[in-house]
Amino acid sequence: MPVVWTESGRLELGGVDLERLARDPEVGTPTYVYDLSAMVQEVGRLRAAFESAPHLVAYAVKANSAGPVVRALAGAGCGADVVSGAELDLALQCGVPPERILFSGVAKRDDEIDQALHVGVDGIGAIQVESIEELARVSARAKGGGRRARISLRVNPEASVEALGTHSHIATGHDEAKFGIPRDDVAAALELALADRHICLAGLSAHIGSQLTRTSAYLEAAQMLFELAEGLQGRPGSELKFVDTGGGFGIDYGDGCDASPARFVRETRLLMRQAGALGLAHYVEPGRSLVAAHAVLLATTIQHKATPYRPDAPLSLARRRWLMIDAGMNDLLRPALYQARHRVTELTRQPGERIPYRVVGPVCESSDDFGVHELPVAPPAHVAILDAGAYGYTMSSRYNGRALPAELFIDGGDVVMVRKRSEPREWVDDRLAAERR
Ligand code: LLP
Repeated sequence: MPVVWTESGRLELGGVDLERLARDPEVGTPTYVYDLSAMVQEVGRLRAAFESAPHLVAYAVKANSAGPVVRALAGAGCGADVVSGAELDLALQCGVPPERILFSGVAKRDDEIDQALHVGVDGIGAIQVESIEELARVSARAKGGGRRARISLRVNPEASVEALGTHSHIATGHDEAKFGIPRDDVAAALELALADRHICLAGLSAHIGSQLTRTSAYLEAAQMLFELAEGLQGRPGSELKFVDTGGGFGIDYGDGCDASPARFVRETRLLMRQAGALGLAHYVEPGRSLVAAHAVLLATTIQHKATPYRPDAPLSLARRRWLMIDAGMNDLLRPALYQARHRVTELTRQPGERIPYRVVGPVCESSDDFGVHELPVAPPAHVAILDAGAYGYTMSSRYNGRALPAELFIDGGDVVMVRKRSEPREWVDDRLAAERR
């Protein structure tokens, strides 16, 4: 939540007054506001946990793919974890060197594999191979293109969903998940990779899920990778350079998060030392933890609505109040998709009584609902939805004919860049764009 309240009760992000932004007719709402300097500092804290050991923080671009964000993180020394040819292209254009790019995903198309193989002198850092079937496809594309594919095998540690302790939709390292090479197939995949002269087995990786608030399952998955790495020592054909223990470090959305990203790294490095694997570089793939807390989504109150008081009803239903804002599930999907809770607050503190409002958007879906929040009795003109920097704009849509939200970028206490809101007219044009053939 790195927004701060000033002494005079104004909400600031990165030293910029949010009420002033929301009231500025040139800005308007809904608008995402990001603090680039704080994101860069987040990278610094995480990288410090590696001390002087060889490492790579491959930022998961899917969390927030805005050019200024990816450029800032690349400038802080991050690589990129990408999941499509377009994300790969974006990372390169934002200055991420090809050798610091990892390409994940269960179903990469042939043209995307080719793109990864032919970038730069000898392709990207590693294609993360997620199945034996994909290994054969990557090998064939490399052979056909006269390249040797540098790969990492992504292993599925098959932890139980309960052990992962996160929402089932964002748990990936369990035995029913489509992600990664199932445990029982790992030995066979390793043999195939070692024997294939079009494949360079450079890494082993795992990513067990997102918004992890404790380290235990992450460490178990890392341990599995270290054991596999040990088994590869001295094997002909093994060119192992790194172990990638994945992303998924959780943040505090208001219910607490004991484990900091740096703690995930420090505890993993301890295991790595015990396993005698310190000769390998240590890669991680965080997305959310670098960007989520350093952003808000600003919205304007359109109206409120209250039911008449019913003395006979249970207390919670005696009087219902909704605060209807101009940001909806199309702008920030997480509450609707994962029952995620983001704090909602006014931008200028109002003294006096606060009452519960159910904050909802304008989209015609019951799940367009940001939950119940204590707000001043007289509803504020604008609100901020906190911790909105990850999986916010990247998951937005134009559902219901809505515009895509604007994005503002703060650096060193000033708004330095703006990406304008799309025009409703663009949606109309798009929906009318089909041509007779
Ligand atoms: N690496 C891989 C292979 C991934 O699939 C992901 C996220 C990450 C790294 C980064 O995970 P992070 O550090 O951001 O947790 N939309 C969901 C989260 C989906 C995560 C998908 N994969 C949400 O809003 O919670």
